[in-house]
Amino acid sequence: MRIVLGVTGGIAAYKAAYLLRLFREAGHRVRVVPTEAALAMVGRPTWEALSGEPVRTGVFDDAEHVDHVALGRSADLVVVAPATAHLLARAAAGLADDLLTATLLTATCPVLLAPAMHTEMWRHPATVANVATLRGRGVHVLDPATGRLTGADTGAGRLPEPAEIAAAALALVRDRDLAGRRVVVSAGGTREPLDPVRFLGNRSTGRQGAAIAAAAAARGAAVTLVAANVDAVVLPGGGVTVVPVETTAELRAAVRAAAAAADAVVMAAAVADFRPAAASEHKIKKTAGAGPAPIALVENPDILAELAAAPLAAGQVVVGFAAETGDDAGDVLAHGREKARRKGADLLVVNEVGTAVGFGDVPNAVTVLDRAGDVVARAAGTKAEVADAVWDAVLGVWDRATTISG
Ligand code: CTP
Repeated sequence: MRIVLGVTGGIAAYKAAYLLRLFREAGHRVRVVPTEAALAMVGRPTWEALSGEPVRTGVFDDAEHVDHVALGRSADLVVVAPATAHLLARAAAGLADDLLTATLLTATCPVLLAPAMHTEMWRHPATVANVATLRGRGVHVLDPATGRLTGADTGAGRLPEPAEIAAAALALVRDRDLAGRRVVVSAGGTREPLDPVRFLGNRSTGRQGAAIAAAAAARGAAVTLVAANVDAVVLPGGGVTVVPVETTAELRAAVRAAAAAADAVVMAAAVADFRPAAASEHKIKKTAGAGPAPIALVENPDILAELAAAPLAAGQVVVGFAAETGDDAGDVLAHGREKARRKGADLLVVNEVGTAVGFGDVPNAVTVLDRAGDVVARAAGTKAEVADAVWDAVLGVWDRATTISG
């Protein structure tokens, strides 16, 4: 694969040398394109020696080869690490005043930017807006790590470790084995209103569902993400159609509308099993001394079970999630098996919660069961790795269906 590695003038530029090594060791051809400022940090001989390729910075440095067009066009992947606030601003504005920004304008392949800067610069509204613009165009912008910065200061703005950048970059160009597939993913947690200011809800952040949607898009699928109360920072970048919803009824309607033409539906949302029988039009007031008014609940439809019982499109694969803790009646897997049989989905991804595994940003461990409750896959790692394992399992169901019918 041909990789263009852009390097800008941040103190972390030296870390790009490690990144270059990782790409080379993985067998890729790398053209390093530093900015002039980057050469003040790490010199041209280092980049030329490590890459084995010429290093240029200007648009007209090699005019006869029209490098500024050729490099972007022929690249399979463009990575900029570190990306300074200045580079983000130039890229967002579409400037082409050096070879790196010209390459960004001509590249049609996936582009990953790994920002590194002081916390104040990262949080400045100008940078926030530039990152949003770039993400909206489908550019992948990593969040910087938090930790020690250049001086004695610490905060958000550190360049992520080279191995992390390499993994994120190479994940962008993996096989597009979901090309031509339409998929629907639900994420987040539904909220059922009690009155105009209160609701019954749950703690789901939507991160796993967002990772599943992002993984499908990266693998070439047309993705609709039905997002129940998911924070904007969690939502995946370009290439995914996001339908925001709040209640279970809205989530059900949006999922069913999109599922009518979908090859797969993944229900990763935490759906409220019950909702208040009636939501008060006005804020419920407490009456001194009267104690709390009881809340009457009614059952919500089970969206997953409905889809599993009556798929909305031929050959549609329906995937459920089960967050289990295990209890006296059985362990996590026993509960998962029982749920797999009860829900009737093609696949059930069983996720252990309530321990260190499964919460917030920490790695997950999941077991994928088929409708009989048999284990078809196990995966552990980041939410992105779990997401890929889910799609691998879905591909397995499609493959088996083709083998049987063919
Ligand atoms: N689900 C759904 N509609 C509901 C409840 C759940 O579609 N009304 C889906 C979830 O999106 C998830 C799967 O069902 O994919 C399992 O959710 P979970 O809450 O674990 O299952 P429950 O049926 O609520 O089982 P229990 O509360 O007994 O654990």
